[in-house]
Amino acid sequence: MTSTTERTLILVKPDGVARGLSGEVLRRVEAKGYRLEAAELRTPDRHLLEEHYAEHAGKPFFEPLVEFMASGPVLAVVASGNRVIEGFRSLAGATDPTAAAPGTIRGDLGRTWDTAVTQNIVHGSDSLESAEREIALWFPAAARA
Ligand code: RTP
Ligand code: MG
Repeated sequence: MTSTTERTLILVKPDGVARGLSGEVLRRVEAKGYRLEAAELRTPDRHLLEEHYAEHAGKPFFEPLVEFMASGPVLAVVASGNRVIEGFRSLAGATDPTAAAPGTIRGDLGRTWDTAVTQNIVHGSDSLESAEREIALWFPAAARA
């Protein structure tokens, strides 16, 4: 991997892992032509999640979101490729899986289970800055100087 290749952090959230969708998510990422650089299955602690979702601190969905994300194993992945940040967001689809377009991960595989949209299978970094910040949090050894 060269230092100019764009990278993103993808998470298969606890609902995706519990439903056995990790392989399907990775299949779509690879089929699109992106490269897997790192992958680790682990149950994140609150501290990591509060850092990861710092931009949402104080919002009504923050506490349920952190609780849900800490509820079981998450597959954390670093993927790379030209415009992978935008490309994976496009593969993932809209945040609300009921509204997400068919053809996307959330649109094909997700649905809402109650009034909240907390469970939506995947996370993808939304900018270069958040990608590098999130990769440093989840994979400290892969952080760029
Ligand atoms: P993500 O960060 O997980 O890739 O998702 P996103 O950019 O599409 O959505 P974002 O606005 O960053 O929200 C982060 C996650 O919080 C949960 N959420 N719940 N109104 C709600 O109940 C609500 N809004 C957001 C979702 O799990 C969302 O992915
Ligand atoms: Mg987001």
